[in-house]
Amino acid sequence: MLTDKRILLIIAGGIAAYKSLDLIRQLRKRGAWVTPVLTKAGAEFVTPLAVSALAGEKVYRDLFDLTDEAEMGHIQLSRSADLVVVAPATADLMAKMAGGHANDLASTLLMATDTPVLIAPAMNVRMWEHPATRRNIATLRGDGVMVVGPNEGDMACGEYGPGRMSEPEEIVNAIETALAEGPLAGRRILVTSGPTHEPIDPVRYIANRSSGAQGTAIARALAVMGAEVVFVTGPADAERPEGVHIVEVQTAQEMLEAVQGVLPVDAAIFAAAVADWRVASASDSKLKKTKGGIPALEFAENPDILATVSQMEAGRPGLVIGFAAETDDVIANATSKRARKGCDWIVANDVSPETGVMGGHENAVTLISDEGAEHWPRMGKHEVAHQLAERIATALGSL
Ligand code: CTP
Repeated sequence: MLTDKRILLIIAGGIAAYKSLDLIRQLRKRGAWVTPVLTKAGAEFVTPLAVSALAGEKVYRDLFDLTDEAEMGHIQLSRSADLVVVAPATADLMAKMAGGHANDLASTLLMATDTPVLIAPAMNVRMWEHPATRRNIATLRGDGVMVVGPNEGDMACGEYGPGRMSEPEEIVNAIETALAEGPLAGRRILVTSGPTHEPIDPVRYIANRSSGAQGTAIARALAVMGAEVVFVTGPADAERPEGVHIVEVQTAQEMLEAVQGVLPVDAAIFAAAVADWRVASASDSKLKKTKGGIPALEFAENPDILATVSQMEAGRPGLVIGFAAETDDVIANATSKRARKGCDWIVANDVSPETGVMGGHENAVTLISDEGAEHWPRMGKHEVAHQLAERIATALGSL
C-alpha cells in the first residue's frame, strides 16, 4: 500500500500519456496522493480535466502562472512529494534532465527537487537506441535517477522493439519499491553484479557467462525490504532491478571506480563476476589478421574490488559479503577465499556445468561466516536473494 504517500507525477508529451491516467487511478486506489504536472506537449495527448478529475487535485502546467506561485512556489511543489515520477519520460524531457535545463515547469521542478526521482521512459525504438538517449540515461542513472522500463513490444508508430512505457502496474510496483519501508529502511547498500567486459580492441573483448540474475535478485530483495540500493552492474543480460540506483560499467577498473564513488554504505555485496585479468595494452584500432600473424595478448591483473573494500582502513562498510564461484573443493576454496580477501561472509556456490547454476534460475549456496559453513538447500535465485536479504537485515540490526 501507498497510504498517504505523496507522488508528484509529471506527464510529458508521448502517446503513452494515456496510460498515466490509469496510473493515477491505481495510485489513488492504493491510498497515494497524486499531484499532477502536465507539460505543454503532454496536454496534446491527455486533457488537463481528465488528469485533475482522476487525481482529485489541481493540475500544474505553467512555470509562470502567478496564481500557482502564490499558492505554492515551484520549489515547494518540487519538495512536497515523497517521490517524483515522470511517466511518460520522453527523449526530450530526459535530455533536458541530463543537461540540467530548467525552461518549463516540469524541467524546473526536476532541477529543484531534493526528492528521489523515478522515470518511465517511452519513445520510438530508434530514439531509445540513439546514442544521445544512451548517454542521457547513463547520466541520469549516475545522478541517482531510478528507471522503470521501457518494455519491448509493438509501438504506436508501427515499429517493434524496446521503447514502450511500462504498464501502470509495473510503474506502481517500482514506486512501491522506491518508497518501501521495511527492516532495511534508512540503510544504504551496494550490490555489484554481472560480468565485466575487458577490451582487446575496439570491437573485441574478454567476458564470462555471468547473467547477473543472482545480483539482480539480491538488489530487488534488499530494495523491497526498504534499503536504498546502489546497483553497480557490468553488461549483464538480466533486466535491471526497479526502484534502485543503477550505475552501468564495462570493465573491472570502471567497476572499482564506481564502487569507490558509491561509498560509504552500510553493507556491500559483491555478486559480480569480475574478470581477474585485462589485456595489458588494449589496441585503439581493430587488430588485423594480416598484421604479423596471430596476436600474442599480454595480460595485467585487475584490481580485486572485494579485497580492496574489505581491507579499507577507514570507511569500511559494516558488512562485506563476497561470492565464491567454484568448480572443485567448494567449501575449502571458499573458506580460504574469505580469509584471503578479508570479507565477513562468503556465499559459495558450485558452478560446475552439471549444476546448471550459471545462467540458470536456481542456486545451491553455502554461507560461510565466522560461525562456519551453513548449507542452504537448492532453491530459486529469488529465494536465495530473499533469505540473504533477511540475514543482512538481522546482521545490520545487531551491528
Ligand atoms: N571479485 C572482485 N574483484 C575481482 C575479482 C573478484 O570484487 N577482481 C569478487 C567477486 O565479486 C566475488 C569474489 O570476489 O564476490 C570472488 O570472486 P572469484 O572470481 O570467485 O574469486 P577469485 O578472486 O577470482 O579467486 P579464484 O581465481 O581463486 O577463484
